[in-house]
Amino acid sequence: MCSIVGGKPVDDAYGGRLTIRNPAALDEIVAEAALADADTFVEACATARDAQRPWAAVPAPVRGRAVQQLGRLVENSFEALARLITREIGKPIKESRGEVQEVVDTCNFFLGEGRRLYGQTVPSEMPDKQLFTFRAPVGVAAIITAGNFPVAVPSWYLVPALLCGNAVVWKPAEYAPATAEAFAQLILHAGFAEGAFNLVIADGGQTFAGLERALEEGLVDKVGFTGSTDVGARIGELCGHHLQSPCLELGGKNPLVVMPDADLDLAVEGALFSGFGTAGQRCTSLGTVIVQTGVHDEFLARFDAATREAPVGDPTADVLFGPMMNERFCDRFENWLDLIRPHHSVHGSTGVGRITREHPRPGFVGDPESGLFVHPTIVDGVRIDDELSRTETFGPIVGVASFDTFDEAMGLANGHRYGLSSSIYTRDPLHAFRFREQVSAGMVSVNNSTSGAEAHLPFGGNRRSGNGSRQSGVWVLDQFTRWQAMNWDYSGRLQKAQLDVADVSADPTFRLEK
Ligand code: UN1
Repeated sequence: MCSIVGGKPVDDAYGGRLTIRNPAALDEIVAEAALADADTFVEACATARDAQRPWAAVPAPVRGRAVQQLGRLVENSFEALARLITREIGKPIKESRGEVQEVVDTCNFFLGEGRRLYGQTVPSEMPDKQLFTFRAPVGVAAIITAGNFPVAVPSWYLVPALLCGNAVVWKPAEYAPATAEAFAQLILHAGFAEGAFNLVIADGGQTFAGLERALEEGLVDKVGFTGSTDVGARIGELCGHHLQSPCLELGGKNPLVVMPDADLDLAVEGALFSGFGTAGQRCTSLGTVIVQTGVHDEFLARFDAATREAPVGDPTADVLFGPMMNERFCDRFENWLDLIRPHHSVHGSTGVGRITREHPRPGFVGDPESGLFVHPTIVDGVRIDDELSRTETFGPIVGVASFDTFDEAMGLANGHRYGLSSSIYTRDPLHAFRFREQVSAGMVSVNNSTSGAEAHLPFGGNRRSGNGSRQSGVWVLDQFTRWQAMNWDYSGRLQKAQLDVADVSADPTFRLEK
């Protein structure tokens, strides 16, 4: 696995080599990656710069055709791509298929956008003059993505960016290089112009150094980043220095509120999926369930039982979740367990931390010691000032807090500094809409889990979850195009705006008779 710049593989490992193992079967090597360095990143940006104008000159409906072909190529390799995701990052196969479907959905949405990409005709304040707006591509977009959604989230950037006439440099998570290369090959066979799409597989340090230089040299016009809040803040700082606003999709501490009138079984199902799906490694994963005191004990008992019964293990089987994506995430998860304090009580499994022969989990599918498997953990008794209630814990750990009044629930739901996703279970429209109005999140579910956003709604968050940018649907077009205003005066005279404008006369003294 290696970078691909201008359609050519860069197989010199300037940035070192990386061996990727199947996190569910650590003795199986999935990929050997040759990492690139900062120079390769800059070179890829220069290649993209050269390719961008010719690509932008291709009519948008024809660019849409390349997006359509990409969707077809992905569909034709659907199962192969899904299986590769499962082998490389351990996502349960059902979810991997959902992720590949999300790429297809994204292509299906944007192939038509090539025939729209609407501008406006706007009336002028003067005769024989017409005003227009056009969407112009931004230029070169550097897209840096995480590995938990190794194709779906990248497609949210790459597909609209290319459709809009930009050239791109994609830096995927270096711990998922096989999936990245497979997706890159599909993109390279879809009919986009040579050099309009480039892949750079590199670590964070080399990427940052390359990005710094590429921005300095004027080779990058837009940065898209999905990842941690801390790195997002550094990227935002760097882009700000160059007067650019990146598209940032960062962390979350997503609340799920259970009102006393909620359908408790439905709420349990939602909490189970959003808390433990993808082993809690989604940015939309459930952080804290916030349950009204009157139903707290019943909810907790049902949530505990459902979690204990859920199959965990081999991600090629029908399991709730598989292994952690890799050692880095597994180790970090074990550290998050230190946030459990004496006033908390732990539920959901027969142990905490790694699932081993000494700390087994009944019903485990496969051999827990062959991979990076951890117990699902429910922590009850979470309070607003607990570190656990404010910290994004990327892994299968869910806090449970209780409240008496709706205002207390809102305090807990907004008590962290994030604002990505959120959910409320209630039958009362008043509480549903009040929650929508008051919650800090960019995405709100009613009687649905915090994860599982559809591919054509605006995706993104507020506060520590992002800088207000939105991906997906028509909203992402504002990330990858700039509005250009044009006026055309065909009167044959210089008509000065504001100065040569006709007026109408009204009679200000007119009144209706009583
Ligand atoms: C992410 O975790 O970065 O809404 C994206 C969801 C998925 C995307 C998650 N469709 O859970």
